[in-house]
Amino acid sequence: MTTAEPERSTDPIVSAPTAPTVVACYSVFDRFFPACGFTDLTDGIYEGDTNRSYEAAQARQAEVLLDRAEVWSASRLLDIGCGYGRILKAATNRGAKSWGLTVSPEQVRRNTKAGLDTRLQNYKHLGPEWHRQFDAVIANGSLEHFAQPADAVAGRDDAIYQHLFATVHRLLDPEVVGAKFVTTAIHLRERPDPRNWLRPPSHFQYGSAEFHWARLARSFGGWYPVIGQLERCAEGYFRLVHEEDGTDDYRITSEACLTAVRRIFRSWRLPQVGCAALPVLVRRPVHTIRMLRCMLGSESWNWQFRGDQAPTVLLRQTWERVA
Ligand SMILES: C[S@@+](CC[C@H](N)C(=O)[O-])C[C@H]1O[C@@H](n2cnc3c(N)ncnc32)[C@H](O)[C@@H]1O
Repeated sequence: MTTAEPERSTDPIVSAPTAPTVVACYSVFDRFFPACGFTDLTDGIYEGDTNRSYEAAQARQAEVLLDRAEVWSASRLLDIGCGYGRILKAATNRGAKSWGLTVSPEQVRRNTKAGLDTRLQNYKHLGPEWHRQFDAVIANGSLEHFAQPADAVAGRDDAIYQHLFATVHRLLDPEVVGAKFVTTAIHLRERPDPRNWLRPPSHFQYGSAEFHWARLARSFGGWYPVIGQLERCAEGYFRLVHEEDGTDDYRITSEACLTAVRRIFRSWRLPQVGCAALPVLVRRPVHTIRMLRCMLGSESWNWQFRGDQAPTVLLRQTWERVA
């Protein structure tokens, strides 16, 4: 596959550039996360085993998602939003051929060095040379960035998810009967007012739901679908054949990360992490501080998974292509 410049499109979804907040978010993450020893950016799968290590849970997640996508030897897999390439690596170990897309230049650099075919490419801009090329597609923890709060305010979120399913439908080889698209995405239990996600967090009472949403939106750049929204938007392209609630897994993973980062920040490793993070601290000081406050200060990332009725639900979904 070649990565061609997209043809100029008048479609507002296709012509929109990648959201700057998403790019800024990964330029910060890509400096801190690997320096802290994290090899991925999403939930692990614990299956009730609280003694399972973070690494083992991440490895299990890759295998489970590949099984659901039906990726075996010689399969052709596209991973939309591949991060540090954990799923690409696990697919390669199965004998599959895999390609990853990311909007982070640093992830491309790392993955390429590791021998993983990774392109700096927004999936919304894929040209026709990518069509019908894959047996399976995975989007693990990337869908949350595809629509932005401004899209939700403008009522464009449905159109963005419909465009996603239409795009993946075109990417899959029609010769593959029942080809799979596997997604993992944080969902909103109830739709909050997206206009509040665009306001500064200081506009709200510290610790309120509105405050946390505003901090998350400014740090990560994204909007979440509500439960059932993707199923509606997939109509005509995919049918939902499997769904699993992974909220507890994301809570366990996020709490483990928070504890580990706090421990590192209090240890002799802090100068090492500081050195690794220096370039982004210089280039993006405001965004770095914003993300540190969101994750370590108000713990807004972890907040969204906490409690009996957490404000979000993580859904792992398997979609089957309809003809
Ligand atoms: C939370 S990370 C998940 C990474 C990886 N799937 C994992 O499991 O660790 C989100 C990923 O989505 C990518 N991404 C976000 N928006 C994208 C887009 N429009 N097209 C392609 N990749 C995108 C980011 O660059 C990042 O690699």
